[in-house]
Amino acid sequence: MTANNMDELVALAKRRGFIFQSSDIYGGLQGVYDYGPLGVELKNNLKSAWWRAMVYDRDDVEGLDAAILTNPTTLRYSGHEATFTDPLVDCRECKSRWRADHLESDQCPSCGSNDLTEPRPFNLMFKTAVGPVDDGSSFAYLRPETAQAIFTNFKNILDSTSPKLPFGIAQIGKAFRNEITPRNFIFRVREFEQMELEFFVKPGEDENWHDHWVNERLSWWAAQGVNENNLELYHVPADELAHYSKSTVDLMYRFPHGLEELEGIANRTDYDLGSHTKNQGDYNIQSEVQPNTEANAKLAIQDLETKEWQVPYVIEPSAGVDRGVLAVMNEAYTVERLEDGKERTVMSFRPHLAPIKVAILPLKRNHEGIVAKAKDIKKTLQKLGLGRILYEDTGNIGKGYRRHDEVGTPLCVTVDFQTVEEDDTVTIRNRDTMAQERVHTNDLSAYVSEYMS
Ligand code: GLY
Repeated sequence: MTANNMDELVALAKRRGFIFQSSDIYGGLQGVYDYGPLGVELKNNLKSAWWRAMVYDRDDVEGLDAAILTNPTTLRYSGHEATFTDPLVDCRECKSRWRADHLESDQCPSCGSNDLTEPRPFNLMFKTAVGPVDDGSSFAYLRPETAQAIFTNFKNILDSTSPKLPFGIAQIGKAFRNEITPRNFIFRVREFEQMELEFFVKPGEDENWHDHWVNERLSWWAAQGVNENNLELYHVPADELAHYSKSTVDLMYRFPHGLEELEGIANRTDYDLGSHTKNQGDYNIQSEVQPNTEANAKLAIQDLETKEWQVPYVIEPSAGVDRGVLAVMNEAYTVERLEDGKERTVMSFRPHLAPIKVAILPLKRNHEGIVAKAKDIKKTLQKLGLGRILYEDTGNIGKGYRRHDEVGTPLCVTVDFQTVEEDDTVTIRNRDTMAQERVHTNDLSAYVSEYMS
């Protein structure tokens, strides 16, 4: 099941501490959100799953965590200063601003006036002053994509890890775009996070690798609990391609507000390394890039057999973390009608994504033996390194189960009199089946590890 609409997700996200409007107490900041206690866990779990799949499970990818503040020259040669724009129209009547390609008619959506300006390109990059003098002479951009720092670090990584083609560099981090009209909750925002892999390949092998990565990424999203019926491939037509792309396949997800891009997988050719490299004439660059007179590094790799230097092509799977969080929340959102006629809301996250893995609930919060045992179990399970294990002594077990259903905790462990007075067993209550079983505390770690794997 998925949510019926975005409002259901927004309400649950706020009520249960997943996501809040940023600067809420001062009226908010448009297109900027904060992740609360459960949101940060969910987001970190999604990023960890990506990092495991892209870096740890492979031997041909290295990681990077580069700076957000970016030298403007990087973004000049990357083409972003000239082309990273959206078409902006102004309403002369009410002064509101709109993205021309998002307008459904010739009228201003705010006041209905037909008096709109012609579209003009609006650069999406944020600038900030660097250093104490703010006269415009010294500024940096907040990066609009994490990818550029992968390209500008290409030689550093080549020199320090000596990879052979094909190989990749992965990065997760914040990026910023001054969206004209941020909207649809955390879907279109001004500050967001990306998970990007730049996978460098020999020219000529790029199209096969492009297909390979489209399939890999579809499988990965399925492993995060995204139903394949809610995903569609969109082969981006030539007139919609980004300036660096030879071809792009978007993974489109059926969000509550409609079918939109969750991840883009682009064949960026040798455009970026070619743009940033010194002395491009030597390495047979196929893209049309401006001659670089300012770079001081050769962003090419030597073929050990032919001894030729070559600027590799790059395939880029680029996913939005926030869009990913929205998709997995939407997929997890389930409302069930129970036998007694009541409803229960369950966030049926895959266990590896669940913000809380296990909640430990003592039946009595003022019973010394039960409390001590419950805390001891929390400590033991926490050491397994599976993620957050929560000790929670609200004293009402039934309400505890319902609350943990709503935040997606896969297992609850209840410690009661039987545990401490009889047989050292606890009740494990399963979120999905609501079944309860008694398990000996000696077997608990193995049970939980197995369930989360
Ligand atoms: N790196 C691709 C993108 O940010 O859209």
